[in-house]
Amino acid sequence: RRLVIAVDGPAAAGKGTLAKRLAQALDLPYLDTGLLYRATGRRMIDAGHDPAQGEAQEFAASVGLEDLSRTDLRVPEVDRAASLVAAQPAVRRVLVDVQRRFAGEHGAVLDGRDIGTVIFPDASVKLFITASPRTRATRRWEQLATDPHAPDREDQITRVEREIEARDMADSSRAVAPLRAAGDAVRIETDGLSADEVLAEALRIVAR
Ligand code: CDP
Repeated sequence: RRLVIAVDGPAAAGKGTLAKRLAQALDLPYLDTGLLYRATGRRMIDAGHDPAQGEAQEFAASVGLEDLSRTDLRVPEVDRAASLVAAQPAVRRVLVDVQRRFAGEHGAVLDGRDIGTVIFPDASVKLFITASPRTRATRRWEQLATDPHAPDREDQITRVEREIEARDMADSSRAVAPLRAAGDAVRIETDGLSADEVLAEALRIVAR
């Protein structure tokens, strides 16, 4: 049977790390759906357009899977642009098909905000991954930090925390596909858990 696994949750909760490892363990393809919104925002910025304004759907329509390996998608201006284009219903409509097609006949693991609520409401398994804002900010900072011993480490983490809280607020309060757990999603609270422990917990949920 086709196994579709939805991994949703707020910014920097560790969805990507989990979804990638889950896909590997289950021998399924993996799609980071945030990259579709990031690539759309990136293309708008490159073309000199304001990501908050219309016409974003034309940019979304031109995004293909080959865009997702661009290395300039995880910078702060693209974080914001992705969240802005993601709030536009026309953009989301354009990107639904790419995501549904990706799972094909054999299934996939997808991570995002609305996989279990909108894209695959009948997913085989739905996981909702959370962690406190401080934990999420620390993880994101550690991913991106150029100097892990920076003397102003705590201040830098606080800045990242403010940014992800602002983005979560925007993602949760938008009218279309707001960030929320599907009614039948299983929550994994990851504060204090290692990536291995989160994977083990997810595999237990998938197996039951
Ligand atoms: O990795 P991080 O959690 O920081 O962000 P991401 O998953 O790459 O998503 C970037 C932005 O895209 C989010 O803030 C959302 O606004 C949007 N997004 C969405 O609306 N729906 C999805 N399925 C995935 C991302």
